[in-house]
Amino acid sequence: MKKRIFILIVISLISIATNAQQPTQSERLAWWHEAKFGMFIHWGVYSLYGGIYNGHQQARGDAAWILNRCKIPVAEYRETAKQFNPVNYNPEFWAKMAKEAGMKYLIITAKHHDGFALFHSKASNWNVVDATVYGKDLLKPLAEACRKYGIKLGFYYSQAVDWTNPGGSAARRLMSEGWPNPDSTKIDNYTKIHDGKWDPVQETSTFDEYIDRVAVPQVQELLSDYGDVSILWWDYATQMKSIEGAAKLKKLLSLQPKIITNDRLYPDFPGDTKTPEQAIPDQSSVAGQNWETCMTMSNSWGYKKNDTGWKSTETLIRNLVKIASRGGNYLLNVGPRPDGTFPDECIQRLKEIGEWLEVNGEAVYGTQASPLGLLTWGQCTQKPIKNNTILYLSVFDWPKDGKLTVQGLKKEVIMAKLLATGADLITTKTADSLIISLPVTAPDKIVSVIKLEVKGKIFNK
Ligand code: GLC
Repeated sequence: MKKRIFILIVISLISIATNAQQPTQSERLAWWHEAKFGMFIHWGVYSLYGGIYNGHQQARGDAAWILNRCKIPVAEYRETAKQFNPVNYNPEFWAKMAKEAGMKYLIITAKHHDGFALFHSKASNWNVVDATVYGKDLLKPLAEACRKYGIKLGFYYSQAVDWTNPGGSAARRLMSEGWPNPDSTKIDNYTKIHDGKWDPVQETSTFDEYIDRVAVPQVQELLSDYGDVSILWWDYATQMKSIEGAAKLKKLLSLQPKIITNDRLYPDFPGDTKTPEQAIPDQSSVAGQNWETCMTMSNSWGYKKNDTGWKSTETLIRNLVKIASRGGNYLLNVGPRPDGTFPDECIQRLKEIGEWLEVNGEAVYGTQASPLGLLTWGQCTQKPIKNNTILYLSVFDWPKDGKLTVQGLKKEVIMAKLLATGADLITTKTADSLIISLPVTAPDKIVSVIKLEVKGKIFNK
């Protein structure tokens, strides 16, 4: 009896000790909140098409979706994949580019919806090593480059939607949205009956089998063979058709105790982070949450030859500041060309954002959401220090009369200066606001930052 009690005590002590080593959610998220800015990378076989199939410009949807949108037969897509040969792939350049842009992490599509793995997987030969002339794992050298440049590495993994590994879910998109194929009506009718699928090969296995055969072992490979993985970015919760399957995937996260995961594993999965897409949410809807807006720089996640709608550097910097002022992170996408290079438009914008952050990064990294209400001229972030508060006022519209009014700020000002030059600024108080006197010209055309230290804490409105 005594011996049994002794064993029980030892077991509970061990379990307390192991649990104590498991970081809490806020410990896991600490670096991520500090980071604010990351690079998303959508790259794969679809990049070869660049949004064009058989001479037809894909009419709707993302270039990464070409296989589904144009209902390309799976065997044909696989045949095309053989030509995937990114001879100019330079992961050091990618990691360096992210770093110079001021990004602190990078998340790459280890497997997107087309099912193609950018890594050497034993679970499916539909991977870059076994299915292309290139024949080398793309993620190993990227993981090394990220380590070298101090960039945290994350993997996007499409766990539910998979158009080439049999059994994966299709996510219904009708043929007519793709390209003017003469057989479109026939294919439309087929997809209606076959849960969005368009090729009988996709139906040679069940969803449960696909999860066990492909998704579970591949996530295990990703979380075991690439060193520290900081983020697992699931996608398409609504297509996750098996609760048991989702549980198996979730369990694998314990392979990386510090990992952060998003909320797209299955419907209602909370994850650690919320993932608004292509939009910056209202402050009230995200207050107190951990959230990250993912966004394209152009009109597509995957590389698109005739891409349009590139957001200006001004828009991108202002987005980042706006997101930080609401307490979120910005995950900005690059869709590399099939040869492994970044589009010039991306390189230029990343450099310009980096230059701005080099001077003004303090107003973004490690900050918290604005405690002030709506500001007509720009955005605000804050950093509490001891008993006081630092406010970073990011001015988008520089006042012509040289007077910036901070409505509702009644605290005593301890210090006020321009972040870019360090020049002191004169402030005056009125009954219900603070007025800051500014030089005639803004230090920065896009966003100029004023750093204020005010007495005490300001509580969020
Ligand atoms: C959507 C798209 C997917 C893309 C993702 C990024 O879910 O289906 O193609 O990768 O958004 O957030």
